[in-house]
Amino acid sequence: MKLCLQNVGWRVRDKDIVQGASLDFEPGQMTAIVGPNGAGKSTLLRLASGLLRATSGDVWLGDASITTLSSAQLAAGRAMLMQDSPLRAQFTLRELVAMGGQISAPFMSTSVRLELAGLLLERVGLAAFAERDVMGLSGGERQRVHLARVLMQLEAAVHGTDRAPGFLLLDEPISAQDLSRQHLVLNLARAHASGGGGVVLVIHDLNWAAACADHIVVMHEGTIYAQGPPEQVLTNALANRVFGLEEGRVRIHAATGKPYVLPHDMICP
Ligand SMILES: Nc1ncnc2c1ncn2[C@@H]1O[C@H](COP(=O)(O)OP(=O)(O)OP(=O)(O)O)[C@@H](O)[C@H]1O
Ligand SMILES: [Mg+2]
Repeated sequence: MKLCLQNVGWRVRDKDIVQGASLDFEPGQMTAIVGPNGAGKSTLLRLASGLLRATSGDVWLGDASITTLSSAQLAAGRAMLMQDSPLRAQFTLRELVAMGGQISAPFMSTSVRLELAGLLLERVGLAAFAERDVMGLSGGERQRVHLARVLMQLEAAVHGTDRAPGFLLLDEPISAQDLSRQHLVLNLARAHASGGGGVVLVIHDLNWAAACADHIVVMHEGTIYAQGPPEQVLTNALANRVFGLEEGRVRIHAATGKPYVLPHDMICP
């Protein structure tokens, strides 16, 4: 089942924040959305998730308009990790993650739900904290517990079946992670795609985007500026026009053939 945006726009106070966005997200594929601050990436992801209603165009999940789906269908079809999700409630990590399945898998028993939550906490490297209160987590831990919660939402919905999970929509999922946890999170996203789910992630690090994504979408001033495989999209010309990098900053890695940017000589002396 594809997730498709057809000529989608979002306009507020006479300003087009996103306009004319047409994209097909495929199950089993990982798409990275890159672009400068304020380009409209988070807005696009919220439109794709149905959390924000498009002011023009349509979003389709399979052959249904996203606006016609029940909350349970929507919760099973896609889950979204927000760019910034606070945690104020008094729950243990295990309870919070288990809640991720409440709408997408309402008939799952509490014991199975809590067990699955424990497995997900292991996957995000937080098993040791399962019975701890969510208050007081570090920024990186908080981001990973939310990741476990959104994975729970999709995996609980297909638990015990041979159906593929829904779309994982991640807004800057590694922004608070150290290098080894960046790797962990992106590997979890890749594993989700390998299991037949679709992944769409907003990411600022062009090197990680080139390394992990099958498909890159570049947003610039509310529009889709370019899209395609990393080696076709991340060119010097694009880096110059969209990110203002000097020509020659994007190089091609000899062993992998992937584009990369090195900041070594970009700092003023
Ligand atoms: N409700 C709103 N009213 C007015 N402007 C808005 C509203 N929501 C978003 N914007 C503006 O739309 C633009 C796009 O916002 P968005 O959050 O999608 O950017 P982004 O590409 O995710 O940026 P970042 O990389 O900084 O997260 C920004 O300039 C933002 O200030
Ligand atoms: Mg954003």
